[in-house]
Amino acid sequence: MWWFTSPRIAFGEDALEQLNTVEGKRVLIVTDQILRKLGLVDLIVTELKKEPRSIEIFDRVEPEPSFQNVEKAAAFARSFQPDLIVALGGGSCIDAAKAAWVLYERPDLAVDAVSPLTKLDLRKKARLVAIPTTAGTGSDATWVAMLTDKAQNMKLDYFASREMVPDFSILDPRFVMKLPKEATAYTGMDAIVQGIEAYVNQWGNDFSDGIALRSIQIMFEYLPKAFDNPDDALARQKTQNGATMSGLAFGNSQVGLIHAMGHALGAIFHMPHGLAVSISCAYAIQFSSREAAPRYSDIAHAIGIREESPQKATETLIESIRSLMVHLRIPLCLRDAGISQTVFDQNLDTLVDQTGRSTCTFVDPRVPDVEQIRNLFICMYEGKTVEF
Ligand SMILES: [Fe+2]
Repeated sequence: MWWFTSPRIAFGEDALEQLNTVEGKRVLIVTDQILRKLGLVDLIVTELKKEPRSIEIFDRVEPEPSFQNVEKAAAFARSFQPDLIVALGGGSCIDAAKAAWVLYERPDLAVDAVSPLTKLDLRKKARLVAIPTTAGTGSDATWVAMLTDKAQNMKLDYFASREMVPDFSILDPRFVMKLPKEATAYTGMDAIVQGIEAYVNQWGNDFSDGIALRSIQIMFEYLPKAFDNPDDALARQKTQNGATMSGLAFGNSQVGLIHAMGHALGAIFHMPHGLAVSISCAYAIQFSSREAAPRYSDIAHAIGIREESPQKATETLIESIRSLMVHLRIPLCLRDAGISQTVFDQNLDTLVDQTGRSTCTFVDPRVPDVEQIRNLFICMYEGKTVEF
């Protein structure tokens, strides 16, 4: 038996107007200071004020939010007692809002006590609306909050529960039109990687498969357009849809080795998530396709690649991903991302350890051993082909 979970999703021009179909008299907006300065919070406040409501704003979400950061947001919520929480931002803000919501509803739980096995009984106090401002993480459609344990310098992926899927996701293109080029590239590549991993991992299923393939098609077609011409409203809207679809796909299956390695890189080198998974992508596919070439071949087929064998199709898929990364000005290996040999060598053991312990690693189509993970990172550092 398996589940498919999804928020209600409003998408397209003026989707924000649907915010007023959600009940709630005391609204807490969870966001960061940059988005507030950009005026995106004002758009939401203006919409909310069409109804009589009391509104408070927590604008102190940090990039890659820590336990301490979400506890602060939860304390803010406890003092205000909202009946509606609106998460505005990229993955960091939405994940922080999810975690703060859980800790607000369940003040008896410590932040490190929440896992998919915990019965949370949410929605006794508030409901959650997510309004993404990036076209990438898909966090508005998933049931996990990626938090950073600063003490261990490690990202944790177990703050998760099916109950944490937001009630409502609003994809209004106005919120992504001003997304800077670099963030467009990184977050868009994250969506592509999520689609790929959702499709190939061991938990893939009929429902996630269809959405994953379509999200990959959309992102391959429209991400370069959104990058080349940031004012292209159709490309912005399409990448926004593709990103949330990638979240729905992996939220209803899983990710895999690319994300496991990407999370370790993000925690240790403080690399943006989209950059970290982009760099990991080709190497992990070279490794995992030995067990799952027909699945990668399906993905290649979906983006128009025609080859005589699944192996050849996978190679061409990897070349297409690398060409797209060059187009988006994303480095192809860790050395080109500016990490020195000394720093890499000093951190290699920790990268291997964190990847080996990640739950994402165990659902990959080919589960690597410790030595294979080490060699994968070495290939990824030097830009060498993975031949084992
Ligand atoms: Fe991701």
